[in-house]
Amino acid sequence: MNNEKQLIRALPKAELHIHIEGSLEPEMMFELAQRNGVKLPYPDVAAIRAAYEFNCLQDFLDLYYQGMSVLLTQQDFHDLTWAYLQRCRDDNVVHTEIFFDPQGHTARGVAFDTVFEGIWSALRRGEQDLGISSRVIMCFLRHLDEEDAFATLQQALPFLDRIEGVGLDSSEVGHPPEKFLSVFQRAGELGLKRVAHAGEEGPPEYVVGALDSLRVDRVDHGNRSLEDSALVERLAREQIPLTVCPQSNLRLAVIDDMTNHPIRQMLACGLKATINSDDPAYFGGYVNDNFNALVNAIELNRDEILSLVRNSFEASFLDPESISRHLQAVAAAAEA
Ligand code: ADE
Ligand code: ZN
Repeated sequence: MNNEKQLIRALPKAELHIHIEGSLEPEMMFELAQRNGVKLPYPDVAAIRAAYEFNCLQDFLDLYYQGMSVLLTQQDFHDLTWAYLQRCRDDNVVHTEIFFDPQGHTARGVAFDTVFEGIWSALRRGEQDLGISSRVIMCFLRHLDEEDAFATLQQALPFLDRIEGVGLDSSEVGHPPEKFLSVFQRAGELGLKRVAHAGEEGPPEYVVGALDSLRVDRVDHGNRSLEDSALVERLAREQIPLTVCPQSNLRLAVIDDMTNHPIRQMLACGLKATINSDDPAYFGGYVNDNFNALVNAIELNRDEILSLVRNSFEASFLDPESISRHLQAVAAAAEA
């Protein structure tokens, strides 16, 4: 293993962009389908994996929503989340801020509290047994209307002391941020943090909309911001974090080749970029795999790795004391 990959392994890291439903590995999908008597249109695990060929975001989303149909009970959500936390431990991810898509489940008749309590119990176990801290971000599906998002926010009210913030995901083009202005405003009034996917497939105007209309604390992806120099200057000046997902970008054709990934340019422009896995079971790997893909393709260097890892803590929703404790641990690991 080269020096950069050893460094990546050794550094404690935070992950800020992971859809927990996107960590459903084909093996577990198959197992849960059997356990729950759900019929999948695949004969075996190999056939599931073979189906993961995407030309765009929508191709992926169609399989992602189909895949989550095996998740029915609180135990299923616990097992899913616990499996992800063990991957975090293996990658030395010590803090994670996970997304979940309640509407992907409530629309199938699975109750909000079944989903939430299953995820939550695994996160508590992760904290106790693995020492991994975490936050939960509830995403609204942007292909649905704002009324549906409001109904979801209503269902979440009893759980708000355990929900850090709201996000916005699913099909981007044709569903601009402004569609969700009121529900994000309400979320802000309720004291929730706000993030949104923007500039993944959608134009830079959607990133501006996420900032101005949704008043987001972070932008998820944000790749296409680079097409607008005034926006890049603003993101750099305001130090708005971008949660970048290299393997997702490649598999969803946001980039044509990993050698053309813009992460170096983002850092050179002063953007507060971080590295994340997005939907690791679908895109070929967890956090370290995403860093390693950049080492292989563009020779991501020591300084860049350290900046990205520091950014992951600085861009997190942890309290300032915890952030500085983690930054000290990063510095110590880098020395060693
Ligand atoms: N839901 C899960 N992964 C997503 C992505 N990369 N973009 C939009 N919605 C998603
Ligand atoms: Zn995402």
